[in-house]
Amino acid sequence: MLKATLLAFTLFAVTALSATAAQPVADPLAPAGHWTGATAGRAATPPMGWNSWNAFRTDVDEAKVMGTAKVLVDSGLRDLGYIYVNIDDGWWLKRRTSDGRMQVRTAIFPSAKVGGSETSSFRPFTDKLHRMGLKAGIYTDIGGNSCSQAYDLHSPNLPEGTTAERQIGLRGHVQQDIKLYFADWGFDYIKVDACGINVYGADSPVVKQHKYNVYPPLIDQASINRTDIPAVRALYQQVADALAASNPDGDYVYSICAWGAADVRSWGKDVGNLWRTSGDITPQWGRMLHTFDSASTRALYAGPGHWNDPDMLFVGHGDFDVHHLTEARTHFSLWAMINAPLIIGYDLRNAPPALMSIWSNKDIVRVNQDRGGHQAVLAYDSDDVQIFVKTLSDSGTKAVLLLNRGSGPAEITLTPAQLKMVGDVALTDLWSKKTMTLTGGEQTFTLQPRESRVFEAKGKRQLADGMYLSEIPGAINIARDGVAVPLPDPIVHRMSNPWGATTNGGERPSYGGWGGARADATPYDQALTVDGTVFTSGIGILANSRMEVKAAGFSHFEAKVGVDDSTRNLKDKVVFQVFGDGHLLAQATAAYGQAAQPLTADLANVKIVELVARNDASSSDLPLVVTWGDAALRE
Ligand code: GLA
Repeated sequence: MLKATLLAFTLFAVTALSATAAQPVADPLAPAGHWTGATAGRAATPPMGWNSWNAFRTDVDEAKVMGTAKVLVDSGLRDLGYIYVNIDDGWWLKRRTSDGRMQVRTAIFPSAKVGGSETSSFRPFTDKLHRMGLKAGIYTDIGGNSCSQAYDLHSPNLPEGTTAERQIGLRGHVQQDIKLYFADWGFDYIKVDACGINVYGADSPVVKQHKYNVYPPLIDQASINRTDIPAVRALYQQVADALAASNPDGDYVYSICAWGAADVRSWGKDVGNLWRTSGDITPQWGRMLHTFDSASTRALYAGPGHWNDPDMLFVGHGDFDVHHLTEARTHFSLWAMINAPLIIGYDLRNAPPALMSIWSNKDIVRVNQDRGGHQAVLAYDSDDVQIFVKTLSDSGTKAVLLLNRGSGPAEITLTPAQLKMVGDVALTDLWSKKTMTLTGGEQTFTLQPRESRVFEAKGKRQLADGMYLSEIPGAINIARDGVAVPLPDPIVHRMSNPWGATTNGGERPSYGGWGGARADATPYDQALTVDGTVFTSGIGILANSRMEVKAAGFSHFEAKVGVDDSTRNLKDKVVFQVFGDGHLLAQATAAYGQAAQPLTADLANVKIVELVARNDASSSDLPLVVTWGDAALRE
């Protein structure tokens, strides 16, 4: 075992970055010695609740919201965990220009009409929700103007008044608004949209027509290069800081709504509690697949406190309405498996029992809310059929979902190996509650179009005394994923344009994150393979990466490491290092074409293992793909 504590503090000079005198900079891959994943806010499990947008768009009002809240309580949904009641776009009247204080549209939220110097306040509204055992959520924009002011121009509830009064977003008012919404009004959850930094450029017709202030867009949804990623992140970080300052008890949820743009799929975890990984969902099968795919390959970026958000549920509408219960169950099950927030988007005052029984499926909710926070990982992938496996914290148990994405029946074979199990596996169908045993190595299921089956699986794990890292993504923080230049992710389902036109050439890949870390796959979606040897378990990541892994309770780490056969950089060597609480425990060097090398480390009393893969002497800009094959923690 190597002892090289000093490495933690090593500084090295980066000379290539600057033509002027080289300044020593901290080694970006130096071990932290502790968990650096964000811990602010209160989202130990994915947030659950209701939001007004998918049900009412901007035509929201107090009677609708309170009627919904009552159903949440009376139906038992609240007690299942659906506690957040979130107002979306449409609540605002104007910003008072004398002091910048936001005004509620009291015509639709009458309890907010408090008079006095405040004029309006949401405090009576949030007090009422709190008395009902619920929590309250509000909506704003990171820029000056909102999405409805650009896209819902027919809306009855658009902000009113002068240009300045209609500046209802956070721009220039972050501290003031966050203090008002949380400290004064008592909200517990905020969704921060991004239209204000996206669609209010000087050449936007809507800006001229409606006399909005011009805001040169920071986000270009069609182009990562034309998006100012650091500026977008910095704006969202300001809100994170204001939230922490206004919530001394830390009881809040911060939802970043930047639609997968600005590479938020990579940094959302460090700034907020959930971040949209895609554009808006619509109640269409193809669009649901699109938003789902944008989150489903990002298991390593989510975990307790921070969740990928493929957008709110559309159960009850369109392709997921009461006449399409197969699709509705699939949509709900998919969200549960990937630890997506379960935010209902339906007018619950008029919900048929068949829909209520979907949201209130205790077993599916339990899978979503499992305290381990391990997002499901793909065990089989194709355009038609997928298998997702999610580790439940009760060791030995998995949830598995078989999905037929296609329009004809599909045969899907499930094996113990896909569950990382051996021998007989006991399956319980979490919708029908029927039980069966997976014997003789495998079982084939026939699924109807758009059908899914969700089972809880109990059996003997392949690693009886440990866990593969790819089984416990919620225990991993990707501190650095090695992606040097953000690229759009091409493996998201490309639906035909849900907003009608087929005139724009088609749906292009646009969400950053391609090349990010993957469980049981390479960063570019190949099988993990080192010198011809395939690893069905492991972590695929680029070089110049650092992962933190919660390791308390395990006695050693093991992996077989090497440069992956799929690498495009065939020249450079990689140094693999294993640190325990900041101390170097083991290291190996590998190059393309070499067999995977065993790397083991003793973990006595270690809390955090850090796995660093460093490009030894970069001679090429091409991505250098590495594989931590069979990487596991053993008891
Ligand atoms: C954007 C968001 C939606 C919703 C609307 C409101 O489109 O992505 O979720 O909040 O704005 O206008």
